[in-house]
Parts: sequence; structure tokens; C-alpha cells
Amino acid sequence: MKGIFVGTKPSYKVIIGKGALTQVGSLIKKSSPEVEKVLIVTDSNVAPLYLDTVKKGLEISKFEVSEFIYEAGEQNKNIGTVSDMWEKMAEEGFTRTDAVVSLGGGVTTDMGGFAAATFLRGIKVFQVPTSLLAMVDAAVGGKTGIDLRTGKNLAGAFHQPSMVIEDTDCLKTLPDELIREGMGEVLKHAFIMDPELYEMLVKKASEGGISSFRDDDQFLEAMVSKNVADKVDVIVDDEHDNGRRQTLNFGHTVGHVIERNSDFKLPHGICVAKGMGIIIDSSVKAGMLEAEEAGKMKDLLSAYGLPVSDDITAEEAVDGAMNDKKKRGGTISVIVVKKIGTSEIVRMTPEEYGEFIAGGKNG
Ligand code: GLY
Repeated sequence: MKGIFVGTKPSYKVIIGKGALTQVGSLIKKSSPEVEKVLIVTDSNVAPLYLDTVKKGLEISKFEVSEFIYEAGEQNKNIGTVSDMWEKMAEEGFTRTDAVVSLGGGVTTDMGGFAAATFLRGIKVFQVPTSLLAMVDAAVGGKTGIDLRTGKNLAGAFHQPSMVIEDTDCLKTLPDELIREGMGEVLKHAFIMDPELYEMLVKKASEGGISSFRDDDQFLEAMVSKNVADKVDVIVDDEHDNGRRQTLNFGHTVGHVIERNSDFKLPHGICVAKGMGIIIDSSVKAGMLEAEEAGKMKDLLSAYGLPVSDDITAEEAVDGAMNDKKKRGGTISVIVVKKIGTSEIVRMTPEEYGEFIAGGKNG
């Protein structure tokens, strides 16, 4: 099993490897012996698969365990669900030295993290992501939160986990569509900062894409570890999203609007892929990216079954961006990849952003 150190304050470790779910109890006990009670937060899809394993491990390690299972789906990533988590912890008599264990995908790690960040003004959270998207992105870095009717992730808190435990075996049974959606964030890391990961993914694409690495323990561990290391590198530099961390939003400003336009029926990673495709086209049209480099990125997205366009209008993109967190004062931070493996933050006024998006769409 691999351990990646995250040098935030406080620091923590991301443990990655086959079979890690069976060690959740002992890993938490070792790192945080003061914790007595834990609330496992999970959803109706993940509970039947992994809740028993994690619960047993925690009980064997002598934690007092309670559970909170919510109906799976982004539509439940709201204050009502978090409020029920707070009530459950209050009923169970949780104190400041108790903890949340979030078991599941990005919605679960975001909400479990937010419940922990706010209950008694902050208790520990241990993130146990089971989807590719949550392993490579959502569970690492301390962003927690919920959606509002106006937009995604508009209420939340920075709250670093006390440990992240990632079992790559979970990826073996994850439906193809969920692997695909996670690949949206994996490809994002390759494009914005990791040429080596890009080459690794080009090679796997030529060998058959997702089906070629489904059962390849070594590749799964290497791919997840590389993505976690990339993300950790960024967040240690800019924990609170004031600078470099914004590069992780490549494709996200447009993607979030597409996601909301679909009433959250389209998965996040798919919308991010569409958003990246649109920004890639706009960057070519604006003379910021060579057509050949753009073609390589779009081909790789397509090779992993990801869409690269959407019928969102430039007006919708601008309106949505004005309600997004990426807006700072009067300007929108647009992440542009000018060369694969590097990225830049370009600040645009809403008018400039509208022209930028329209250029790509009409190109
Ligand atoms: N998912 C982007 C970030 O954590 O900053």
C-alpha cells in the first residue's frame, strides 16, 4: 500500500492500495486514538457494497459506530441531508473528539466533510472514496460543501480530512460509466500539469481504454497515485484556492452550467469533459492553443468515451459563470491549456468571456 503525505496544516496521509477498505478501522485507530464514536456517512448505492466491511473493521478496532445512509444522487447534496447528519450525531452524543467517516463518491465525501466541518464547529473527517472521481479529486484537498438551487457547491468550507483511504479494488466493480466520469478528472490532471500521465493514458487508450486497465491492479494503483500526487502538489501550494488551485477548474466553469442545465442528470465528470472540449475549441479560436495540440486532447477525451461539446450558448455560459465561485470581483478566471501538461489562469471580463466561448462554438 502506498502513502502520500499531504503537507497542509494539519498534515495528513492518503493511503492507496488494494484491500485498503478492510484496514479503515485499524488505520484510523492508529492515527487518531482519541476518537471514540464515528458516524459512517454513505448512500443507498454504496451501503450494500461496502458498509458492512468498513463497519466491521471499525467495530473490531473498538469504535462506537453509527451510520447515516441517504438516497443516492446529486439532488440530495443539500442542507436538508447535512442537517439530518448533524441531528444524528447530536442524538448519538458526539463530542469534539469524535469523527465522521465518509464512504462513497464525491457527493458523499463533500457532504460528510461539510457535516464534520460544521458540527460542534469542526470535528475530524476520514474520507474513504469508492469512486474514481472521488479518489482522484473530491476526497483530497479539503473542499467540502453542498449545492444550492442557484448553483453547485455554493455553500461549504475548507476542512482537510485527517486521513484519506482509497481501495483500488472498488474500481474493479465500479460501472463503466462511473469509471468514464472519473476519467474526466484524470484527463484534466494530465492536460493541466502532467505530461507523463498524458503519455500513460495515450498508451492505454491505444490498448483499448478503460477495458484495458479494469483488472490491472498495478496500473490502477499507479494511475490513482499519480493523480493524487498531482492534486496534492497543487493544494499544498494553494490550499484556499486563491491562485494555482484554480487550475484544477479547467473545464469546470462551463461544466457546472451544463450540469445545472441538465438538472444534475448529467454526471459531473461528463460535464467537465464537455466543458474542457468547449474551452479547448475557444482557446484555438482565440489563438491561445495550436489546433494540433487541441486535436490530441479532444481525441484522448473521445478515446475514453467522453463527450467534447454541448449545445450550451455563450450567454448561458456567461450567466452561469457569474453565479460560479470562479468569478472574482468583476472578472472570471478561465483556465487555459496552451500546451499539454501546462496551464494558465486568464482573467476575462464577462464580455470577453462571452466572446471567447462564442468564438469556439462558432468556430
Ligand atoms: N476539485 C477542484 C479542487 O479541489 O480544487
